[in-house]
Amino acid sequence: MSDVIFEKKGHTAVITVNRPDTLNALCEELISHINSALDAAENDQDIFTVIITGTGKAFIAGADIGEMYEKDREGIRKWARLGCDLNARIESMSLPVIAAINGYALGGGLELALACDIRIASSTARMGLPETGLGVICGAGGTQRLPRIVGDGIAREMIFTAEKIDAQRALSIGLVNRVTDPEALMDEALAVCEAINKNGQLAVRAAKRAVNASRDTDIHDGCIFEREAFSSLFDTEDQKLGMGGFLAGEKNVRFKNK
Ligand code: CAA
Repeated sequence: MSDVIFEKKGHTAVITVNRPDTLNALCEELISHINSALDAAENDQDIFTVIITGTGKAFIAGADIGEMYEKDREGIRKWARLGCDLNARIESMSLPVIAAINGYALGGGLELALACDIRIASSTARMGLPETGLGVICGAGGTQRLPRIVGDGIAREMIFTAEKIDAQRALSIGLVNRVTDPEALMDEALAVCEAINKNGQLAVRAAKRAVNASRDTDIHDGCIFEREAFSSLFDTEDQKLGMGGFLAGEKNVRFKNK
């Protein structure tokens, strides 16, 4: 069976990492297959949102320690680039990506989840950056993205102690947006996607670009970026449909995404 399962559920692509023998640890081949699944989602005009999840008791239990162990400095630099590029791609891709964290999200697995737009966790999930306990640090963006999401102090504590936290703690620090019963996780993730999918997708994508810009710019330039994106949407049919629909008292506007 494939180590990545790609399914379409309405306008949502569900990408399931399926390498349970290693708790879905990220090896070079698996990263390549996740990229192929993301290609399939991006190249399908009918897909508006993406969910990434895992099979078994892990979301992704980190980078594959067996594959990394023998590498030297140059070898690991090239290898780490694969994870960095994957996470940068998830972060900057036009479609919103939701991490449905079904179990362990550790090391490179949590780093991938940090690059997603929204994180939803099963109540049984455990998360952490255990790298310092292995004598290394994160290599795929964890030290950069975690402080932006949970704040500097909490991020330092998680990274220096290498301790795992449970889903409730993750919720309380803003690491995940929601916590659900394990059996409700996919329904919850799909419901969030459905709430996104019904909106104008040109607007959703512009919103993602604008929120992303807020990380890299000061507020002045960020607001200019936002204003330009906002204005550009007035060239679209969706703006007339959405605002015209409101003025006509329509409840369910069907956007054309044009
Ligand atoms: N890499 C390779 N194999 C892994 C793995 C990983 N990250 N995580 C788990 N596995 C393998 C185990 O070796 C084991 O294989 P065998 O059955 O052949 O022995 C199998 O998956 C099942 O794991 P456990 O028996 O350990 O399961 P458990 O329930 O007792 O423990 C766990 C679960 C706490 C997640 C434990 O597996 C664990 O600590 N895994 C490692 C987590 C980790 O340190 N991740 C960070 C990796 S470094 C990194 O990600 C660097 C980076 O930033 C890019």
